[in-house]
Amino acid sequence: MQTLRDLPSLRTAIDAMKSDGRPVALVPTMGALHEGHMALVEEARRHAGHVVVSIFVNPRQFGANEDLDAYPRREAKDAQMLQAAGVDALWAPTPQVMYPEGYATNISVSGITEGLDGAARPGHFDGVATVVTKLFNQVQPDVALFGEKDYQQLATIRQMVRDLDMRIEIIGVPTQRAEDGLALSSRNAYLTDEERKEALALPRALGEAARQMEKGASVEAAVAKAITMLSAHGFDPIDYVTLCDAVTLEPMQVLDRPARLLGAAKLGRTRLIDNIAVEPS
Ligand code: PAJ
Repeated sequence: MQTLRDLPSLRTAIDAMKSDGRPVALVPTMGALHEGHMALVEEARRHAGHVVVSIFVNPRQFGANEDLDAYPRREAKDAQMLQAAGVDALWAPTPQVMYPEGYATNISVSGITEGLDGAARPGHFDGVATVVTKLFNQVQPDVALFGEKDYQQLATIRQMVRDLDMRIEIIGVPTQRAEDGLALSSRNAYLTDEERKEALALPRALGEAARQMEKGASVEAAVAKAITMLSAHGFDPIDYVTLCDAVTLEPMQVLDRPARLLGAAKLGRTRLIDNIAVEPS
């Protein structure tokens, strides 16, 4: 596996990959890789002859009071995992390569980014859309893979690719979970042992609310129960627990079409998110 840190060497490597005619897949990440990321890599190998993984902790998607400095960085271990998984190239640009002095362009997707995490984290999805556009232009992949764990991010990228006529197939990969059900996340490393146990309330609260809605309970009542359960387990603040249209992410009061129940809340200093499909009967 080659590790590439500047654009000329990336371009040479991509040209060499493309010369055999097999598709190139890109898996964008911020590193501190876990089995969730590796599921994306495995899926990428099923769709493309060449797999490129990017690791870039993108400053533009972190708010002023967020965890940019604390975000876990362990590139040597990440590189070993990617090498073992048969990845062709690791694209690991420096902030200077990504945003050189004088950098001035922002990509902003409206509508779908305005609620949920977009409301809780102003500017976050502009940062994501901007860096993902740059990664797409740099790597020129045929296919790119994103996790359903970050459901609003996946929906935003799909919208952007459609709107900007990008010739890239976007593949969503189901959320990978620990044995007890907690969604794998690089941020789980912040949790204390006690918090790690309480964290389980997030997937449980969403799962129970989803089942109740599917059995005919009112959306409002099921959401209220989920919020009560999260509070009881120490989540504070609870940014949202919201039922949304599975494609547009518009909030729904009645379960009358395929939906997604999304939740975000803080446990101690760790902000956790999760989501689950909810199907009308
Ligand atoms: P990061 O949080 O490192 O996640 C990289 C990719 O892995 C995302 O597509 C995310 O949805 C996916 N992922 C994370 N945990 C997962 C899990 N438990 N199951 C399945 N997929 C999972 O998301 C980002 O980085 C950044 O915003 C990025 C897209 C790289 C832009 O900077």
